[in-house]
Amino acid sequence: MLELQEKTIDETRQGSAYAPFAEDPNQYTKKFYIESYGCQMNFNDSEIVASILHNEGFGATRYLEEASLILLNTCSIREKAEQTVRNRLQIFRSLKKENPGLLIGVLGCMAERLKAKFLEEERLVDIVIGPDAYRTLPALITEAEGGQKAVNVLLSREETYADISPVRLDSNGVSAFVSIMRGCNNMCTFCVVPFTRGRERSRDAASVLAECRDLFDKGYREVTLLGQNVDSYYFIPKEEDAQVITFAKLLEMVAQIDPKLRVRFSTSHPKDITDEVIYTMARYDNICKYIHLPVQSGSTRVLQLMNRTYTREWYMKKVDRIREIIPDIALSSDVITGFCTETEEDHRDTLMIMEHANYDLSYMFAYSERPGTLAQRRYADDIPEDVKKRRLTEVIELQNKMTRANYNADIGKVFEVLIESTSKRSEEQWSGRNSQNKVIVFDKGHYGLNKGEYVKVKVTGTTGATLLGEITA
Ligand code: SAH
Ligand code: SF4
Ligand code: F3S
Repeated sequence: MLELQEKTIDETRQGSAYAPFAEDPNQYTKKFYIESYGCQMNFNDSEIVASILHNEGFGATRYLEEASLILLNTCSIREKAEQTVRNRLQIFRSLKKENPGLLIGVLGCMAERLKAKFLEEERLVDIVIGPDAYRTLPALITEAEGGQKAVNVLLSREETYADISPVRLDSNGVSAFVSIMRGCNNMCTFCVVPFTRGRERSRDAASVLAECRDLFDKGYREVTLLGQNVDSYYFIPKEEDAQVITFAKLLEMVAQIDPKLRVRFSTSHPKDITDEVIYTMARYDNICKYIHLPVQSGSTRVLQLMNRTYTREWYMKKVDRIREIIPDIALSSDVITGFCTETEEDHRDTLMIMEHANYDLSYMFAYSERPGTLAQRRYADDIPEDVKKRRLTEVIELQNKMTRANYNADIGKVFEVLIESTSKRSEEQWSGRNSQNKVIVFDKGHYGLNKGEYVKVKVTGTTGATLLGEITA
């Protein structure tokens, strides 16, 4: 179970590499290889980068040896994430020895955090480019081809890449991510994101809608609207008399594209999710009944040190309110153990709030001090590593127990499932998810269904992290 949890973390939040799809080998003469780490926004950024590179005649390859350009889209959220990237760079060193013309570029949050220092620390890197500078990648490639080291880590207050149509890398053709905003203004003291991603800005609602509509027309049946803090989405259209578009409004507009298009979103900051958003979710069947609502800690004192701006009681009331308005909602969370000064009592408060919220799933981390963050500057990282780890284990064990109980409670229920792919376990089975974001695997039978279709499935069992079911006619 522990292993499964970690796998989930790897696949979604903490991020692991993915190999891009292979393209028609004759279409492009130059090939790039890209690996992404970190959050979904980073993965989505890689799709924007792929689009920019396509226009320059670069095609994606999943084979390192074929590439003349290797890109690593990096994450700085925890020290481990950065270490993973450094280890990958070690491996590229030998490739570069064999092929001196090979260019290696570092993108994303670690590039932004380290800036030109990266070139001193990792001499084999040719290009360092931050999250708001991807439009200049072609120019930097030209510079690097000329033998210079190329860096652009300028952050922007406006860039949203609104006009760039992402090239869907490694997609199942059913679900896609759509960024609706960039940056973060929140300044949680533990977090490096405000420094690596800059100020918050919302993307033009019309371009969000156009992208979602286009995805639907291409056969996609699920979009996940992405932002570090989606509930503070705020866009003022240019036309005169135009109304402000809040997140609740945007959600509604996307939901109205077609009842067959599922809408998800991530991430919500508990302080910003409004009743209007919750009621909008309740009103539309196609807005999925799932909220990722990171609590971080259950102790008001620690929450204050983290600058989360809510108390333990406030969070619990928010959860109660959500459950009252949407009884079939599924909730998930992020939890940090061993933040500066955290006592055993604070830790117990975290366990208790998790039980109160009864999460279906949590992403759980031991606190990792990040250079330049407010916590690093203000507080001592004073909880010993073994204590952080022990508390993390306790938090994971509790979550696993709740997950098991919540999955068992689904046995016998019937869910509408969107078919996403053939199951990894068997060619004879489909894998999809219900509105609550739980994966359900079931026999294909002789129904002649395809991915992207909806089907009613009765849950017959669970493996702990996946539901098993059968199609109900
Ligand atoms: N905007 C998103 C956060 C993205 S980071 C949100 O508010 O949910 C994802 C998660 O990583 C955070 O929620 C937090 O739980 C964890 N995290 C961030 N910084 C961390 C750090 N320094 N050490 C450990 N975990 C951290
Ligand atoms: Fe980081 Fe907080 Fe912003 Fe999330 S809301 S990205 S945790 S500063
Ligand atoms: Fe990591 Fe940057 Fe995302 S630090 S979690 S890739 S915003």
